[in-house]
Amino acid sequence: FRLPEIANEPTRDYAPGSAEREQLLAAVAEMQSQTRHIPLVINGREVRTGTVLEQRNPGNKAQVLCTYDSAGPAEVDAAIEGALAARSKWEALPLYDRQAIFLRAADLTASKYRYKLMAASMLGQGKNIWQAEIDAATEAADFLRFNVKYSAEIYAQQPPCNAPGIWNRSEYRALEGFVYAVSPFNFTAIGVNLAAAPALMGNVVVWKPSQGAVLSNAIAYDVMREAGVPDGVMQFVPGDAAAMTKRVFEHPEFAALHFTGSTHVFKSMWKQIAANIDRYKSYPRIVGETGGKNYHLVHPSADVPNAVNNTIRGAFEFQGQKCSACSRLYVPRSLWPEFRERLAAGVEAIRQGPVDDPANFMGPVINQAAFDKITNYIEYARNSPDAEIIAGGRYSDADGFYIRPTVVVTTRPDFKLMTEEIFGPVVTAYVYEDADLDATVDLIGATSPYALTGAIFAEDRQAAVDLSARLLHTAGNFYINDKCTGAVVGQQPFGGSRASGTNDKPGSPALLQRFISPRSIKENL
Ligand code: ALA
Repeated sequence: FRLPEIANEPTRDYAPGSAEREQLLAAVAEMQSQTRHIPLVINGREVRTGTVLEQRNPGNKAQVLCTYDSAGPAEVDAAIEGALAARSKWEALPLYDRQAIFLRAADLTASKYRYKLMAASMLGQGKNIWQAEIDAATEAADFLRFNVKYSAEIYAQQPPCNAPGIWNRSEYRALEGFVYAVSPFNFTAIGVNLAAAPALMGNVVVWKPSQGAVLSNAIAYDVMREAGVPDGVMQFVPGDAAAMTKRVFEHPEFAALHFTGSTHVFKSMWKQIAANIDRYKSYPRIVGETGGKNYHLVHPSADVPNAVNNTIRGAFEFQGQKCSACSRLYVPRSLWPEFRERLAAGVEAIRQGPVDDPANFMGPVINQAAFDKITNYIEYARNSPDAEIIAGGRYSDADGFYIRPTVVVTTRPDFKLMTEEIFGPVVTAYVYEDADLDATVDLIGATSPYALTGAIFAEDRQAAVDLSARLLHTAGNFYINDKCTGAVVGQQPFGGSRASGTNDKPGSPALLQRFISPRSIKENL
């Protein structure tokens, strides 16, 4: 059989006065006019737990967007047992039937549910129209569709050789147990992929969405149900992360963790899994995408306006709350005067405010804890003799969690803000002497535990080749003359190594391989 054509979902531009802008803003207004209650969904049935929490608009703290039930131990157990009961039927379904469900989910994401998913990501997670578009609309649909393409390629792989009288084949089984998907607030599409990719490969999934993204993730889950994911195969279980996770990791049939979130949480999960290893039927697969301290290295041959423009976008789109966001910057002394002037002017000109006003390039950060953490870093820089704030540095949490885009310059390449992940709209620059380029390249790998994304800006081709080779292990996604964010599914498989994750590359066949356990069959003819 032949799959439908798989290509990236085209982005829409939401130009002023366009029908798409009007429809989207109408969806945003409608979402603000009601407060949806989101129950757990276990075995296709809505479950109320009595512990009801709220998701508020981070740009307008007074606005409750949805209420939701939070799972306790009994619901976690019910979700796991229900998923396990659904497992063998789901695994036995032919791949093309599973593919049909997720292709339908992709179409629903990009059409019927597009504006709802975007509106929920805008209001709930603080994305402007275009950030919501590249996440909840196009990336979510792309993950669903490209996974289908890659699953077909994987199932088509068969042993290259048979001996006389022997017929060998490979069978692509699901994992024996259930997958625990723990998704972040910052990308609706990541939640979709964390749950859908293992399910496509025949696994059953217990999905714990982030408490900062329950509304958009519940809508993504509506899509899954409407697309035909059977009851029990994907359980939707919001709740307290630490309590839920402890319970899940005690189950003997825990088969895989599919995680995106902080390095700290991932390491603590890894330790808990290790502590429980004797309980498990199989060695659990551990797949995680975590933090970053991503860099832009500007070479003396760089095109300065291009490097500045990409730095502004890489550091401040979605308020810098991308694991891939640019948060450290290396600029040569020879280019610094022009670079500094353009960067400071560009940053001060950024418009920020409620995300349903399309004129705002930036919105709020996600919650009080993020606001406090990020502003503490800003104050640390303000009070340090080794640093200067050259743009931004202002903030207010009076109505919502608004932090101005902030540029810090430091004289120390090992300064706290050059080495620690901030996960907010703060970029720190270090000005290197042109003659010290080599030493500066060494610093990039040596001063951060992460290796997620990085970019170089150079017009000199030989310099670009040399830098690319020398920075080999500093980033799993490496960009030449482009910002270090915005990987596109099907084009730049995403992920990093070191403290940034297991680099299993969501948006590629490699990820799907982690969620199968092949069986080799030899038959004598
Ligand atoms: N995949 C997202 C990006 O590349 C995180 O920006």
